[in-house]
Amino acid sequence: MQIINSKIGKVKIYYNYNNEYDYHEFIIKDLNNDNVIGFINFKIYNQFILKAWLNNIQIKNEYQSLGFGNILLRLFENFCIKYRCYLIEGKYFPTNNKAKNFYIKNGYEIYKDGYETYISKSLVKIEKHKINLNTNNYEKNNIN
Ligand SMILES: CC(C)(COP(=O)(O)OP(=O)(O)OC[C@H]1O[C@@H](n2cnc3c(N)ncnc32)[C@H](O)[C@@H]1OP(=O)(O)O)[C@@H](O)C(=O)NCCC(=O)NCCS
Repeated sequence: MQIINSKIGKVKIYYNYNNEYDYHEFIIKDLNNDNVIGFINFKIYNQFILKAWLNNIQIKNEYQSLGFGNILLRLFENFCIKYRCYLIEGKYFPTNNKAKNFYIKNGYEIYKDGYETYISKSLVKIEKHKINLNTNNYEKNNIN
């Protein structure tokens, strides 16, 4: 668990690994009231190269547009870089313009395949983000 400053004051960040579904997740909680602000979950798998699949990222409505999506994405990308992933992939609903802006702003490429809209980002040339987040200790946390 880690505590960082945000636009609304101090927030807690938890990392958790779900054995049953083999996914990793980061969760942000508001320290003022212990509310969950949002989460990101993802898988890391081997398909010729090591890849990450961004399963879901969600920030609660009342906490959106305050920078929490960016924080979760950076935690996720740092984690992937540490695991030596080459590529991040995922998808979003084509009508979701906020998500589209969000991914473009964060350097993701967007492409369509049939009815699906996919995102991808190569990690080959990206250094770990130099932000004040200690992502070196991924201890399991009790998030209840
Ligand atoms: C998409 C989502 C994760 C972004 O998180 P967020 O905390 O709201 O975003 P941030 O405050 O970190 O902003 C990051 C970027 O997102 C975009 N963004 C944020 N709010 C936006 C809005 N109201 N309209 C358009 N773009 C917006 C901007 O590009 C922004 O960059 P900027 O602040 O430098 O302009 C969040 O809005 C969300 O959970 N949406 C519902 C679920 C969802 O759509 N998930 C993604 C698809 S799986």
